[in-house]
Amino acid sequence: MNSLAISEKDRALLLARAREALSRAYAPYSRFRVGAAVLTAQSQIYTGVNVENASYGLTICAERAAIFSAVAAEGPEMHLKALAVVCEHPGPCLPCGACRQVIFEFAPEAVIIFSGPDGPEEISLARLLPRAFSLK
Ligand code: THU
Repeated sequence: MNSLAISEKDRALLLARAREALSRAYAPYSRFRVGAAVLTAQSQIYTGVNVENASYGLTICAERAAIFSAVAAEGPEMHLKALAVVCEHPGPCLPCGACRQVIFEFAPEAVIIFSGPDGPEEISLARLLPRAFSLK
């Protein structure tokens, strides 16, 4: 799937920022480094990396780290337009279930950008998390 919800330029920039962030991941236990970058409605980009812990369950994913950083900078009205996620493994890296639910909180219509086998790809959050949990 390769829609054009996000401009070519924004897509490339978000992926580049996610890749650049990845080198700062703290993943001594899994050695699986992940980088993420979000584009907000205010046209700002925030990055995040996975941060692991000796108590494994306390680990935070790169996507949630990026989203929380965006909220810390822009406040509770922060709205996501797109999120890019990258890892160092050949397979496509897509947000885990918990991160999908957190993305949904800030943009049910968000676009997820990831590295596919033939280059950058986009998929809507709605396809990744159909019928998401909502209090509304
Ligand atoms: N991880 C992420 O950062 N994002 C995901 O969507 C899934 C998994 C991290 C958590 C952990 O540090 C490592 O990848 C291996 O699970």
